Amino acid sequence: MEVKSSFDAHPVLVHPRAYRHIDVRPLTGVLGADILGVDLREPLADDVWGEIRDAFADHQVILFPDQKLSHEQHTAFARGFGEVIRLPQLHGVEDHPDVQIIRRLASDTGRVVGENWHADSTYLEEPPRAVVMRAVDVPPYGGDTGFLSMYAAYEALSPGFKALIAPLNIVHSATRIFGSAYLAQGRRFNSSGAKAEMDVELGDREMAHPLVCTHEVSGRKFLYVNKTYSQRIEGLTNEESAPILAFLYEHCARFDFTCRARWHKDQILVWDNRCTMHRAIPDYTGQHRLMTRVTIAGKRPAR
Ligand code: SIN
Repeated sequence: MEVKSSFDAHPVLVHPRAYRHIDVRPLTGVLGADILGVDLREPLADDVWGEIRDAFADHQVILFPDQKLSHEQHTAFARGFGEVIRLPQLHGVEDHPDVQIIRRLASDTGRVVGENWHADSTYLEEPPRAVVMRAVDVPPYGGDTGFLSMYAAYEALSPGFKALIAPLNIVHSATRIFGSAYLAQGRRFNSSGAKAEMDVELGDREMAHPLVCTHEVSGRKFLYVNKTYSQRIEGLTNEESAPILAFLYEHCARFDFTCRARWHKDQILVWDNRCTMHRAIPDYTGQHRLMTRVTIAGKRPAR
């Protein structure tokens, strides 16, 4: 009998489909695509929206260069992806509270918001479906955002490991971000757009989600775990969970599951917050960076 000690763990590639109204240029074979040929300042026809949603489902992260949007136009475009919500830890733009701010001043020296691979707010019962981010002021170099496909990370696991993790749930909370674990380190929020005072009880609240989820649109399975919010495997201690989580974090961050978004002023980027993780790259100390973002409501992740 043949005993297989390894198998072909290369990620499954996304093959671009034919489009009539937009020009879709993939950044890599697993995720990310530039979308050209649309003006997001104008209301879009249904068939254009249909193609944008197809490209979003396939590529998970879509970028629209050279879109000079007002806050109203940014919000109106974001509504095409669903209901708009606000994250409690972020400030809104004056008179536009749905448009929230990620800012780093040239004088800031602390940690950059979102430095670890994560999906946003997975501690919520219904974490966001998507985020629509706009580059308002970006450094001349540095300050990119990394993205990775949790479809690719799942699909590259061995059949045996997939079977092992299929029934597991992960307990998530924001305790290290704005709960008691954050405060216990004597840390305070910096000026990068995060609020000074947060609801510590909300930060400590725990929520379990399946480790392997099925995407409501694509039907593909993806891993749902991240170092920022995941605490342990439900039913196991922190110590028992740690080796499995450490393996998953290292596996997910494999370079061939990633793409890197280079920001340009007036670029709009939409990421699928269910099946991707992202991380802000902290390589622009001494320079100003201002992004605005609109967050889209999601459903409870399911197997
Ligand atoms: C975030 O994690 O939401 C911030 C991403 C970025 O600023 O690039």
